[in-house]
Amino acid sequence: MTKQSPSGSDNSSQLNMQAVLSMRDSGYYSQRTAGAKHAIDNTLPLMQQALAALPDADTLRFADFGAADGGTSAALWSHLVAGLRASGDNRPIEILYTDLPSNDFSTLFRTMQGMEGNPDDAYQSQHKDVFVHGCGTGFHRQLMANNSLSIGFSATAMHYVSQKPCEIKDHVHMVGASAPERAAFAAQAASDWEAILLARAAEMRTGGRFIILNFGIDEQGRYLGHTGGQSMFDQFTAHWRAHLEAGTITSEEFERATFVQHYRTVDEFTAPFDDANGAVRQAGLKLNNIRTHLTPCPYRKAFLDSHGAMSSAEFAASLIPTMRSWSETVFSSALNSHRSHEEKAAIIDAFYGSYEAEVAANPDGHAMDYIHAIMEIEKR
Ligand SMILES: C[S@@+](CC[C@H](N)C(=O)[O-])C[C@H]1O[C@@H](n2cnc3c(N)ncnc32)[C@H](O)[C@@H]1O
Repeated sequence: MTKQSPSGSDNSSQLNMQAVLSMRDSGYYSQRTAGAKHAIDNTLPLMQQALAALPDADTLRFADFGAADGGTSAALWSHLVAGLRASGDNRPIEILYTDLPSNDFSTLFRTMQGMEGNPDDAYQSQHKDVFVHGCGTGFHRQLMANNSLSIGFSATAMHYVSQKPCEIKDHVHMVGASAPERAAFAAQAASDWEAILLARAAEMRTGGRFIILNFGIDEQGRYLGHTGGQSMFDQFTAHWRAHLEAGTITSEEFERATFVQHYRTVDEFTAPFDDANGAVRQAGLKLNNIRTHLTPCPYRKAFLDSHGAMSSAEFAASLIPTMRSWSETVFSSALNSHRSHEEKAAIIDAFYGSYEAEVAANPDGHAMDYIHAIMEIEKR
């Protein structure tokens, strides 16, 4: 993998990596990620506090970094905008949705105009002087003019690193990597985190806030799908390895299925703020607050709450699509390019099918609880 070029020009390896990072399109992502939406909805009080603390400005500019199809955060932004207008604040509002160029921006814009998704959340068409924009440049770079951003927001996106430092030989994710592989991912994530923060520091107005809700590893060592019981990334690895052992995929295809992600610990998140002479503090950023939070898997909860009315097969059929919505591109793009579309689809269906069959046969311990680090950053 090559680094994003400063000029913004794409090359084929960048495009490949962007395909690997993408969520499934046509609204599949937000329709099957109720947990991500719950986690975002819970940040409304934090966002309202951030709004209340902003210094005076003629225009409000907000940004949603790594917004995917916009469906999971639409209710949050809708509540914020409605609250502002209800309070008599009629200032123009610009909101910039950012993601990679491979993102399905078309679904995003249709959602904002009430042509798709929940029309109650189509705040752009409900309020005057609200301007929705899209930006297809990665968030490791500056995306707006200096001193123009009032509130930046990002949910469940900045665990994606800007390049894959190495393939993980015996697992699919850095949480199961060997020590040297894990160190390579940690180094990439540290330099990306600093780049993200410095880019936001340039964009933010003095007094502006950046609210982030990022996947990470909490103080108890928990992370997405690893909160007790079965561990989701170990399950992915086991089912992918079963295809290797059956001869369905090659060893290169097995290794290429490496998530381009790093789950930072709380110490890794706070490190750039610890050094008073470091670039991030010098750029004016202050970490006001960080805490970790578990959002329970809504599919597991619905299964348990049904007290037997929902079968284990129905539970499995609800849980696996939420995992598939964000992970499928990692496995499909690991397959050799000479394979036909149909052949790839059959392998991927069999892969998720075998995981689903395992959950249906014994649902104990299977869940996808979310673990986030929630941060409030201020520009002084
Ligand atoms: C799991 S989705 C989260 C979407 C939404 N924010 C939510 O919480 O439901 C992660 C998103 O981050 C985007 N992403 C990954 N790397 C990115 C980058 N360097 N710049 C911008 N977006 C990125 C992906 O394309 C994807 O849409």
